[in-house]
Amino acid sequence: MTKPHAPSDPSRRDFLRIGGAGVIAGVAQARTGAAAAEQAGAGATGGAPPIETVRVGYVGVGLQGSSHVRNLLRIPGCRVTAVCDVREERTDWATKAITETGQPAPTAYTRGVRDFERMCETEELDLVYNATPWEWHVPVMLAAMKHGKHTATEVPAAMTLDDCWAMVEAAEKYKKHCVMMENCNYDRMEMMAFNLVRQGLFGEVLHAEGGYLHDLRGIKFENRNEGLWRRAWSMKLDGNPYPTHGLGPIANCLDINRGDRFDYLTSMSSPSRGLQDWAAEHFPADAPQRRETFVLGDVNTSLIKTARGRTIMVQHCTNLPRPYSRIHVVQGTKGLFQGYPHRVYIEGRGKNDQWVQANEMLAEFEHPLWKEIAAQAAGAGHGGMDFIEDYRLIKCLREGTPTDMDVYDAAALSAIVELSCQSVARRGRPVECPDFTRGKWRNRPPLPIVHM
Ligand SMILES: NC(=O)c1ccc[n+]([C@@H]2O[C@H](COP(=O)([O-])OP(=O)(O)OC[C@H]3O[C@@H](n4cnc5c(N)ncnc54)[C@H](O)[C@@H]3O)[C@@H](O)[C@H]2O)c1
Repeated sequence: MTKPHAPSDPSRRDFLRIGGAGVIAGVAQARTGAAAAEQAGAGATGGAPPIETVRVGYVGVGLQGSSHVRNLLRIPGCRVTAVCDVREERTDWATKAITETGQPAPTAYTRGVRDFERMCETEELDLVYNATPWEWHVPVMLAAMKHGKHTATEVPAAMTLDDCWAMVEAAEKYKKHCVMMENCNYDRMEMMAFNLVRQGLFGEVLHAEGGYLHDLRGIKFENRNEGLWRRAWSMKLDGNPYPTHGLGPIANCLDINRGDRFDYLTSMSSPSRGLQDWAAEHFPADAPQRRETFVLGDVNTSLIKTARGRTIMVQHCTNLPRPYSRIHVVQGTKGLFQGYPHRVYIEGRGKNDQWVQANEMLAEFEHPLWKEIAAQAAGAGHGGMDFIEDYRLIKCLREGTPTDMDVYDAAALSAIVELSCQSVARRGRPVECPDFTRGKWRNRPPLPIVHM
């Protein structure tokens, strides 16, 4: 397995705002300026020329990649013409799935961990989409854009600030879309909450909370799929390695990069116990897993302050026994949404001081996209939201419109990985969030209510 990137050595960076000592300009801030902003390419920030039939090269056809390939094969105007995986049995699986739909067999790329470069160089593709382990997302996307292809990736898009900037700079330079596919933005309840925000029912939104709280102990120790690479990050990194499921939907509600932006963050981690305990309970005393040392705090909690003064709490917890939750709180001057279980409280509606079950509000407030597409999405991965995100991506490419998420969102949300590590390493001191839009966040239009 390839050695994962650890976050950049924090000592190399100067993003800290220490106590009340004020902002120290850092590498990221040095890149600000109107000149740089003007260089931004159309594909990075807006629409690109429409593509009648989107030819996709898919890299990493494991658990999540195969689910996306199945979705793409059902979307009109989309063909999967190349597939790449280090495991030939996975490209064989994809070839079978593709030919069974009547599409021609894709070209398979299986010559090792960098064969995606040959695919990007050789194939005529419109989109290179990857669901590889985290350390490969950015190398795949950079190769795609360098060779003139739009690109999309599973989450998080990047694990380091340097890689966040590399994505932004490549998207601007080559004028290509670089999209992080955050499926939770398309979940039914998250979309209804967004619709409620857009309709003003919560008043002015002041605070939000999100997270990824999912007992992955068994998966991390499996001898296949994520077990082959995800556990390794728990040995390298103490912070929030997977912030985007919780942050994506609430960032949309707070107009992050579109009227507001993440300003600074403070983060703390609990001790790391869960994986050690799990290994002790499930492996014999002489097993190598018993000698592994983990640094990822079992519960990581970050607080983010936005430029407009709003507050966000984002949490990560994947090493402890617990039921699944993404938290999902969106709170404004007139009410709030609170997830897991999903409830709504709006002043003046319903009984004073009592929640309304969110399900009861679907008839009136369901997001239009869900109403339009729910039947098609039924049965697809993660309750249908994975199909909806794939559908929207292909539709935007075909129509030449901006994608729902763009490279600035990919960078701002993924940056929380390294920023949280930096803050944890410094006893929770605040760290500056880079402005990847270089000031454009002030005037970028808010994400609209999108349709099928
Ligand atoms: N959005 C979601 O809900 C969700 C759910 C699961 C996984 N994911 C994301 O999807 C990605 C993959 O996760 P997974 O569960 O499918 O893992 P997986 O291990 O099942 O799949 C990864 C695949 O990539 C292949 N691969 C590894 N290195 C490669 C390389 N250099 N070139 C080509 N192929 C390579 C592996 O052989 C494997 O088939 C991760 O980024 C993960 O975070 C997202």
